[in-house]
Amino acid sequence: MISSPLITYSEQRERLQSLYDLALELMALRDLPAVLDTALRHCLALTESQFGFIGLNSKNNKLLDLVAIRGFQAAKDFYDNAHLIPLRPNVFARVVLENKPIRSSDVMTDPHRVGQPRGHPTVHAFLGVPLRIREEPIGMIGVANRPGPYEDDHEHLLMTYAAQVAIAIHNAQLNEELAIAKAELERKVVERTEELREAKDALAQKADHLQRLLTETVTVQERERQRISQDLHDGLNQLLVGAMLELKSGRERLRNDDLNSAAASLQQVGEILHQVEGELRQTIYDLRPPVLDALGLVPSLGRYAEQFTARSNIACQVLSEGEPYRLVPEVEIGLYRIMQEALQNVGVHSGARRATVAVNFASDLLTLIVADDGCGFDEAGVLSSGDGHFGLLGMRERAESFGGKLVFKTRPGQGARVEVWVPIP
Ligand SMILES: Nc1ncnc2c1ncn2[C@@H]1O[C@H](COP(=O)(O)OP(=O)(O)O)[C@@H](O)[C@H]1O
Ligand SMILES: [Mg+2]
Repeated sequence: MISSPLITYSEQRERLQSLYDLALELMALRDLPAVLDTALRHCLALTESQFGFIGLNSKNNKLLDLVAIRGFQAAKDFYDNAHLIPLRPNVFARVVLENKPIRSSDVMTDPHRVGQPRGHPTVHAFLGVPLRIREEPIGMIGVANRPGPYEDDHEHLLMTYAAQVAIAIHNAQLNEELAIAKAELERKVVERTEELREAKDALAQKADHLQRLLTETVTVQERERQRISQDLHDGLNQLLVGAMLELKSGRERLRNDDLNSAAASLQQVGEILHQVEGELRQTIYDLRPPVLDALGLVPSLGRYAEQFTARSNIACQVLSEGEPYRLVPEVEIGLYRIMQEALQNVGVHSGARRATVAVNFASDLLTLIVADDGCGFDEAGVLSSGDGHFGLLGMRERAESFGGKLVFKTRPGQGARVEVWVPIP
């Protein structure tokens, strides 16, 4: 139909109509393989060619990737071996390199011929046109072996159609990129949602811990007050009542001029008051060790360790490394209470023979370690059991309350270690 260089008006109209129909069919397609396959089929039909290909430039524009081949039955591995072709100035790659249509009446005798891959049918007549986006070549269409040579008409027709093909390919590529970006976005949304859910669960768990801790703290405080009032009642109160009775009897004896007995009563009162003073001092010490404020952490840990050994019969050594410095009072009392709770656990639960309290004063970090050689415990098991063990949780919360971090290092049968790290500003 287009073999003659002179065409009639009605032939021209017919040709335009069929080009339009082909372009419409192409534009309706979305995915790249379908676009390439349909486009190549149309190109062969338009030019009455035997076979052809579409090649697209690689990202670095050094290779041409044969993304569609049509018109001959390639051997199985032909495509794998031959689909990437270096863009060098041979018969067809010049189409891309020079961004212009190229024709050859017989490739076998063409001066630009470089040979062809094994398994490829012999190419005689050849026409190649560039695929352009904004004037720049993104690849090419090649058709070959029509019954006669390719004429100007074939070239114009293929150039016109190639403009549509380039747009369709470009759109399909954008579509592909968009689909990948969308899938990636969806994946991220799912991932982020999962993270948020985990964070929310963790927060809820933490809030629950804190709530139980608060309740426990109030109970502990109440119990502590009860104990102190009981102590004051049983100890100091009894002693003071005794002293008053003794005073009364002393006064009686004075009135009766029984001076010796009166002196004995006074002596007795003196002894009782001495006892009162001792008890009072211990109570005050327990409420807040004055040595902590006066001398700092290491001497007060030392004093407590001595008392602990006397009470529990577990040897307890206090080690200090680095040049000791003072911390704000809340941190010092906090560390002291953690050590108290840790040693109390050693005394009650560990069955240890010895314990160590070690403090390291580095310039930017203070560490406190309370370790024992006892039975150890299963931390995860204890903390997840959720029944009442607020000592461990309380220690950790206390450390975190002043910006520190607390970890337990223990395994059943291998002793236990409480480590506290406090960053020093
Ligand atoms: N030093 C330790 N050696 C062995 N077991 C310990 C030690 N410290 C804690 N535990 C275990 O962890 C549990 C929880 O301790 P804690 O929270 O202080 O609660 P409580 O002392 O009231 O039982 C203890 O009951 C004990 O089983
Ligand atoms: Mg405890």
